[in-house]
Amino acid sequence: LGVHEAYVRSLVRRAPDWPKKGTAFLDMNPLLADARALKQCIDSLAERYGGGFITHVAGIDARGFTVGCALAYALNCGFIMVRKKGKIPPGPEGSSSILSEDYELEYGKDTLEVASDSFDTARVTSPRVVLVDDLLATGGTATAACNLLRLAGATIVEVAVVMEIMSESLQGRRRLKEEAYIDAHALLTFCEE
Ligand code: PRP
Repeated sequence: LGVHEAYVRSLVRRAPDWPKKGTAFLDMNPLLADARALKQCIDSLAERYGGGFITHVAGIDARGFTVGCALAYALNCGFIMVRKKGKIPPGPEGSSSILSEDYELEYGKDTLEVASDSFDTARVTSPRVVLVDDLLATGGTATAACNLLRLAGATIVEVAVVMEIMSESLQGRRRLKEEAYIDAHALLTFCEE
């Protein structure tokens, strides 16, 4: 983000002890609502991943859809939704199955899904994907999404997030590297005690 970092950072709102005591929630709604900050984020990511190497951007349900789909548009790429459980319709006459992976969150458990034919329907033989989300904390969500996209046939180039929280207990970047062999790129980093 360069010279724009302080401005974009000022539009991240911190909600302490939400959704449960002891967790710090970083809310990027004010950032998304600000045309200049949103543009700086998308432009910065488009500069990093431009050049035609990427075929798709994938975004994680739900907040990863916001920045992810805007980035896909900027890169002239397709967009893939990695969804929370139960949201993907069946393909025609059983033509596609749903790939599913459980994962642990900082505050609970969840399941992500993608359709097995996500990339076939886009008629791309070697999909090269940037996975986008709003936040990297434990790295559990991004790791599960990488596993699913690979099962669907993608090569993951990198995980890109707007915000990364780093602390002794939150080592998402390391987990992603150790468990999914993928590097993370964060526009903003927040160090917690
Ligand atoms: C939040 C956030 C990331 C994930 C990061 O999603 O949007 O997807 O947690 O946490 P992790 O690195 O510890 O896995 P949440 O499940 O709250 O969903 P939402 O986007 O629908 O609010």
